[in-house]
Amino acid sequence: MKVLAPMLKAEEESSPGKLEPWLVQARVWKGWIDQGLQFYSELGPESPEILTEAMRYSLLAPGKRLRPLLTLAACEMCGGRAEQAMPAACAIEMIHAYSLVHDDLPGMDNDDFRRGRPTCHIQYNHATAILVGDSLQSLAFQILAEAANPDVPRVSIDGQRIDPLSVEVALKCLAELARAAGPMGMAGGQQDDLLADRLPRSEASLERIHRRKTGALLATSLKMGGIVAGVPDRELENLWELGQNIGLAFQITDDLLDVTGDAQQVGKQTQKDSQQGKLTYPGLFGVDESQRKAQALIRRAYDSLERYGCRATVLQGLARFILERQQ
Ligand code: IPE
Ligand code: IPE
Ligand code: MG
Ligand code: MG
Ligand code: MG
Repeated sequence: MKVLAPMLKAEEESSPGKLEPWLVQARVWKGWIDQGLQFYSELGPESPEILTEAMRYSLLAPGKRLRPLLTLAACEMCGGRAEQAMPAACAIEMIHAYSLVHDDLPGMDNDDFRRGRPTCHIQYNHATAILVGDSLQSLAFQILAEAANPDVPRVSIDGQRIDPLSVEVALKCLAELARAAGPMGMAGGQQDDLLADRLPRSEASLERIHRRKTGALLATSLKMGGIVAGVPDRELENLWELGQNIGLAFQITDDLLDVTGDAQQVGKQTQKDSQQGKLTYPGLFGVDESQRKAQALIRRAYDSLERYGCRATVLQGLARFILERQQ
């Protein structure tokens, strides 16, 4: 599975001829996402130069772009055109980038290394990092809302401008993203994560934290792909379930990488969770049992993808990556 790593590391190039077909597709989409993030983060003179620079420093840093890849892959799997999901994909990556900037602040996890470089508050300062998070969050919602306005400049893919979204689709995505990012989703999970030493050290509280702090945004990534493709609500619920299983597995592997990973390769400090008294899977169950739990969740995700046949290939590849990743 060494072949997986190059896709998600912008700086590495490997011969496309040797890559599995899903990975070739995912790399093309990753290129679109990086173009989209560049486009949407060019803010012009109304945004203070230092704020735009700091936003782009964190947003455009070499992340895996997993959430926007899930959005594009889900859209195509559900019969939509992946490029139409670009505003939703870029919006979710902005929410994610904001969550990382705030997660690293001294009042939260107090980290100084992220995506292989100094964290935003180290590179700039604490106050600017707060504003970077605030601004990325607002920009995400602005992009989605304006994606339904034919008069606002839209992102181009390979020279072709994408069509405006219908107002109904944009509104549905906005509601989903707001719910997943807010107190009932990511922000709520982050709050409980901070107070974990006061919660029972049980699987139930751990799962509840992880399903909200990480699962909610991953599940919404898939769901917004389905919304753009125009699938019925029942199908959207299946995508949410699938995304929650993938999301919980993703946070379990994140917890595992904190214990077993290499800081340079992961691009962030390791061995921090136990120091900070975090409630984690390896902390509660040990490394081997945590790996088994992540495998079981990914197996469940695979089973639910079967009914999509060969249209699920990219999502199945991404699910495999989540289990085997070293970064
Ligand atoms: C890190 O997310 C934060 C978690 C929710 C575990 P990623 O591992 O997706 O970070 P990037 O985007 O690749 O930097
Ligand atoms: C953070 O979880 C999840 C977010 C909502 C950002 P972690 O605190 O474990 O993420 P890392 O390990 O710092 O990336
Ligand atoms: Mg954290
Ligand atoms: Mg953290
Ligand atoms: Mg972590």
